[in-house]
Amino acid sequence: MNKPVRIAVTGCAGNIGYALLFRIAAGDMLGPDQPVILHLLEVTPALKALEGVSMELRDCAFPLLADIVATDDPAVGFKDADYAILVGARPRGPGMERKDLLEANGAIFTVQGKALNDHASRGVKVLVVGNPANTNALIAMRSAPDLDPRQFTAMMRLDHNRAISQLAAKTGSTVPAIRRMTVWGNHSSTQYPDISHTLVDGRPAPELVDQAWLETDFIPTVQQRGAAIIAARGASSAASAASAAIDHMRTWALGTADGDWVSMGIPSDGSYGIPEGIIYSYPVTCRDGRYEIVQNLPVSAFSRARMDATARELLEEREAVQHLL
Ligand code: NAI
Repeated sequence: MNKPVRIAVTGCAGNIGYALLFRIAAGDMLGPDQPVILHLLEVTPALKALEGVSMELRDCAFPLLADIVATDDPAVGFKDADYAILVGARPRGPGMERKDLLEANGAIFTVQGKALNDHASRGVKVLVVGNPANTNALIAMRSAPDLDPRQFTAMMRLDHNRAISQLAAKTGSTVPAIRRMTVWGNHSSTQYPDISHTLVDGRPAPELVDQAWLETDFIPTVQQRGAAIIAARGASSAASAASAAIDHMRTWALGTADGDWVSMGIPSDGSYGIPEGIIYSYPVTCRDGRYEIVQNLPVSAFSRARMDATARELLEEREAVQHLL
């Protein structure tokens, strides 16, 4: 059995936290040979609820759960963390503008970025789930100057998984038959789910579906899926978001399958003509705990316009939080 790793999760008394922690402790994220110590971080008023979550985690008697640290202090929560999943965020309240949301969350992610910088393991892998995820990840990254920017990522895996599932249903195929899906850009309604290079049972996806379905059904369905879940469930995606967070971390740590790739929000390095200095979703392969952007994919004019539109939105978000960077 390996030495336990420390996994810090914020927002543990919330919806996603409740769907996420039990699966991590069961070994879904890092496999059946990797014990974990869970660091649960919440705001002070939620500490009592957090105690309940800790009690339930212990009551599961998970063989892989070596210990639990529950706290409202980021310095304690991120101490020696090998992985950090930042779920806790301020939801948009009534009458709150996007700018107010960015501001309220900026305050959270500067503090957490600094705490990661000062207390986490030097190799910590950070995934930001709390919205606006890409810009929150940018703020955390900029608040952690001693860590490599490549250690900070934003969650696009839910969008990626939604796109795979839609295409599998449309083509009468199965999820494992779909490879090389890409979602570009921001985790917002400007994201661009792109099947140009996707394979279905080894066949190019664009040969199996028509352009009208792509434009009027697939792309908007994936872009608007979060809102559709809220409309149907009366609450935002929680179990699927937790599942995607597990997928993201597992792939980053353990690697992508041969011939496949995933979508991750990462610091842009200028690849595909996307401006540097934003957290943008790219197709990536992972190996030995590192990711690499899939390079040299041909980009059509249709794709170019959509990739640029979602980049523009990220530049605007960055502009709104410039004073925090
Ligand atoms: P929730 O409101 O049920 O839970 C959030 C929890 O975070 C609360 O318990 C709150 O006390 C805690 N929290 C707030 N500030 C904190 C801080 N500074 N430190 C530690 N904990 C803090 O919300 P839910 O449904 O769990 O969603 C969490 C976030 O994930 C939201 O921002 C949501 O928009 C986002 N989300 C992102 C997705 C993605 O694909 N990137 C998908 C679905 C949700």
